[in-house]
Amino acid sequence: MRLEHIAVIMDGNGRWAQRQGLSRSEGHVAGIEALKRAVDVIYQKNIPYLTVYAFSTDNWKRPQAEVSTLMHLMKNYLQHETDSCVQKGVRINVIGRRDRLAPDIRHEIEKSEQATAAGHRLLFRFAVDYGARDVIERAAKLSKRLACKPFRALIERASHSVAGVPDVDLMIRTGGEKRLSDFLLWENAYAELYFLDGMWPDFGAQDVDQALDWYSQRKRRFGGLLTDHVAVNSA
Ligand code: FPP
Repeated sequence: MRLEHIAVIMDGNGRWAQRQGLSRSEGHVAGIEALKRAVDVIYQKNIPYLTVYAFSTDNWKRPQAEVSTLMHLMKNYLQHETDSCVQKGVRINVIGRRDRLAPDIRHEIEKSEQATAAGHRLLFRFAVDYGARDVIERAAKLSKRLACKPFRALIERASHSVAGVPDVDLMIRTGGEKRLSDFLLWENAYAELYFLDGMWPDFGAQDVDQALDWYSQRKRRFGGLLTDHVAVNSA
């Protein structure tokens, strides 16, 4: 079955750290390692789109020290991963708002996006200061100025997304919670939702394989009827 776009809510860094007697920051550092593994696996499997939730519009409510750690890790990630992304043909795109990010972070985002712009094997989007309702509201405001655009294009524009990204096919969430937490509400309209109890830092290739096996058994109808069912009825 067709699978073009995987989205991931990487939940559970804090609980993982607490269970090992580590700090939350150490949990986020382990989360970055899990992210690198996940990008590699999805790249190896030739899946062309991956979107992950790194920092939500509501994550600003966390203690300042944790917010700083996450921003620092993100900057570090961009600085260290961009070259290898260029070599592999991975295009980086950071979605979300940019107006509340520190100038050095914005600069790093722009540099990575420019450096990797020619990448065609995998579009890797990560969401920073992202909230789907925030995006939809800003797209609605844009629609007054740019009335003729399809709404999808306004969503892309409002979230700084590369144009033409297909809807999410498979949405994975670690950490045991079963909710979307304001992530890609528009793009997840017909996504298959896969929840794991494991914490994000433990996520690995085996989990991707299990999620893909599960996905391959779904019957996706998109509000219509299964193709073979239509064929039988119309024969
Ligand atoms: C949720 O765990 C995770 C986050 C809020 C951040 C996700 C970030 C990473 C995996 C690393 C950062 C990645 C980049 C590219 C910057 P939590 O802290 O909510 O865990 P908890 O639910 O156990 O407290």
